Amino acid sequence: MEIVTTIAELRAQRHQWLLAGERVAFVPTMGNLHAGHIKLVTEAKRVAERVVVSIFVNPLQFGANEDLDAYPRTPEADQARLREAGADLLFLPQEAEVYPNGREGVTRVEVPGLSDLLCGASRPGHFRGVATVVSKLFNMVQPDLALFGEKDYQQLTVLRRMTADLNIPVEIIGVATERESDGLAMSSRNGYLTPEERSVAPALYRTLLGVAEKLRNGENNFDSIEVAASAELVAAGLRPDYVAIRRAAELGSPDSGERQLVVLAAAHLGRARLIDNLLINLD
Ligand code: PAF
Repeated sequence: MEIVTTIAELRAQRHQWLLAGERVAFVPTMGNLHAGHIKLVTEAKRVAERVVVSIFVNPLQFGANEDLDAYPRTPEADQARLREAGADLLFLPQEAEVYPNGREGVTRVEVPGLSDLLCGASRPGHFRGVATVVSKLFNMVQPDLALFGEKDYQQLTVLRRMTADLNIPVEIIGVATERESDGLAMSSRNGYLTPEERSVAPALYRTLLGVAEKLRNGENNFDSIEVAASAELVAAGLRPDYVAIRRAAELGSPDSGERQLVVLAAAHLGRARLIDNLLINLD
């Protein structure tokens, strides 16, 4: 696995692959890699000849009171996992090259409508930071395909819209959430949980399964299902931010006959803010 830190080195390698007619799949990450990320790399290897992974803890997507400084950084372990998974190139961009005019001075990418709801409502500016860095990374790497986890379903939806709206020639692939054996969605932020909190955390997934079952049984009073699910989370010891049943395609509020749904939830537990979701196809 080649490791590069500059856009010039990245482009030189990218150009060689272009000349060889090899397709490039791209997995952008913030590091602290777990089995969910490795699944993205494995899937990337299946769909393209070459796989590029980036690790960049993007300051633009963290709010002033969020965990930018505490965000786990595990460069050696990440490199070992990526070598083992068979990534071809690891790109470690430096902040000075990503944001040469500073964090405040950068041209920003806004995806209106999708960015201010759900996680965007409690994390103002977060999706602008994600859309901005991912569009820049797309321009740096120039991949044919890019893979993102479905665990961050709103992020995936924002990035699909951004890519379509800006006519970026990259195919976006969503990959199913990787879970621990007790159902907890894998996340770098699970590392913030104490052992006691860790034993409580799977309640988030269990609650989503309960919502899915109600919907499959034909219940369609979405408001009351959401309220009951929030109460379940509180009873389990979490502090819910939201539980929301939405249209899977663009996260709008569904009418009672909608068949393609997604239930999304975010909840605080100790220092961690956990998110999860389930896609529910009623057809
Ligand atoms: O999902 C993530 O890890 C980040 O939001 C991403 C897509 C790498 C952008 O910084």
